[in-house]
Amino acid sequence: MISKASAPGKVILFGEHFVVYGTSAVLGAIDIRVTANSEIINENKIIIESDFGKISVHPKKPLNQVKTSFKPFLHIAKKMLVESKPNEGIKIKIESKIPPGVGLGSSSACCVAAAGAVSKLFSIHSKHDILNLAIEAEKTIFNETSGADNTICMYGGLIEYNTKKGFRKIDNTPDMQLLVINSGQIHSTKKIVKNVRTFRERNPQIFQKLTRMESRLIKKALQAIKENDLVTLGRYMVENQSYLEKIGVSTDRIRSILQIINNTTLGAKITGAGGGGCVIALADSSKIKQAVRQIKENDYDCFSAKIDFKGLDTF
Ligand code: MEV
Repeated sequence: MISKASAPGKVILFGEHFVVYGTSAVLGAIDIRVTANSEIINENKIIIESDFGKISVHPKKPLNQVKTSFKPFLHIAKKMLVESKPNEGIKIKIESKIPPGVGLGSSSACCVAAAGAVSKLFSIHSKHDILNLAIEAEKTIFNETSGADNTICMYGGLIEYNTKKGFRKIDNTPDMQLLVINSGQIHSTKKIVKNVRTFRERNPQIFQKLTRMESRLIKKALQAIKENDLVTLGRYMVENQSYLEKIGVSTDRIRSILQIINNTTLGAKITGAGGGGCVIALADSSKIKQAVRQIKENDYDCFSAKIDFKGLDTF
């Protein structure tokens, strides 16, 4: 039996980085997906395959002895095999439409899709358990994850997320059209999160003040979402970007993109770790063609995205 699952990518509307230190964040799933196929095989092996290559590993081989970016998938397969089918194997194939390393949740969506597909092989359907497995998997490559990205990829829609309080689905979401602009600078989330930790250690008062400002901004942003006030929401995104600028995760290219779309979108900011990656802009429907033309004229890739309400889908 082949078990399939797909999970959406994500954007962070508010609160990246600050969420790692206990502030809430507002995230949305977007309509661009990863699909994972998995099956039990007779050989006692774990086989992982994607556009980035293929590996075959014995299920008992310790994870720290394997040098591969496929560690999250190995973790998922190992855990399930050891618990239930120690003499068999698992094959996982990942197909992703989400560009990696640019803040769109590629790695979290892969973890959620793989955890969903493999869990189904073992008749595990609890979203809570699948999410925990996906977070454990992500931690094999990025131990500091707040869990926010995996949670939005799992549940879809728009959520408010907090490491201590958990998450809450935001109902009655406005009809938001987003433009996602790729700076072309690939980042390592782990590295940028480490840089922010260093910034926080060196500038505790500044960081604390920004954390308080971010919390206040998020409360106001949630109100703007409730009132379907996209103009105000866009303004708050610009404000959030100024905090991200202060903690050092913006780049020249990000600043140049923000400048290009300043007058043709309602507001824009980094999504995810920064240090390059993507900018998300809240589109102004009357100026969207103009915005896209300006972005393309400046040789940046961009696509338009909508909120995806499905989250993890198994089939
Ligand atoms: C990365 O998409 C978001 C960060 O806040 C890290 C995290 O929450 O795990 C930078």
